Amino acid sequence: MQKKYRISSEKEMHDFARRIARIAKVGDWISLIGDLGVGKTIFAKAFIAELGFDGEVSSPSYALVHSYDPPATKVSIVHADLYRIENDSEYLELGLDDALHYAIILVEWANKYPMRLPDNHYTIEIEKISDNIRDITLNIYGEGVSRWA
Ligand SMILES: Nc1ncnc2c1ncn2[C@@H]1O[C@H](COP(=O)(O)OP(=O)(O)OP(=O)(O)O)[C@@H](O)[C@H]1O
Ligand SMILES: [Mg+2]
Repeated sequence: MQKKYRISSEKEMHDFARRIARIAKVGDWISLIGDLGVGKTIFAKAFIAELGFDGEVSSPSYALVHSYDPPATKVSIVHADLYRIENDSEYLELGLDDALHYAIILVEWANKYPMRLPDNHYTIEIEKISDNIRDITLNIYGEGVSRWA
């Protein structure tokens, strides 16, 4: 299933991320794709907040992966950034394949590394149109299709 949206503020990005968070389940993989500064981390912050986390969500650019677990969140979330991943062993070290068994996976720069995606995944491509306007292309594969109204 593919849908396209144009949003015109950061708040609308928060609303969009919250809608996705409400249908996401353990084992879902969410790829966030788009150039520097389009809003991938802004999406992730609103997503993680919707699932109950009220602390600081920082960009995983340096640590490469951050985990959020109950009771701070309703469900475990693993937030990763593949920008600096250059080979299989670096990718495998992140443990994302294993995390799929117990968490929702959010991946910035998912297009930087060719991993095998699980059946239930979402791709969210964000394009910057102007300072505040973004075009979003949402693709949902697998069980999420029937959960997206
Ligand atoms: N409609 C919008 N949606 C999302 N972010 C917006 C929007 N309008 C303005 N912004 C601004 O764009 C910036 C997006 O930054 P963010 O860190 O989320 O980008 P990113 O895609 O994660 O970049 P990077 O590739 O460096 O990780 C923020 O400063 C945010 O305030
Ligand atoms: Mg980011």
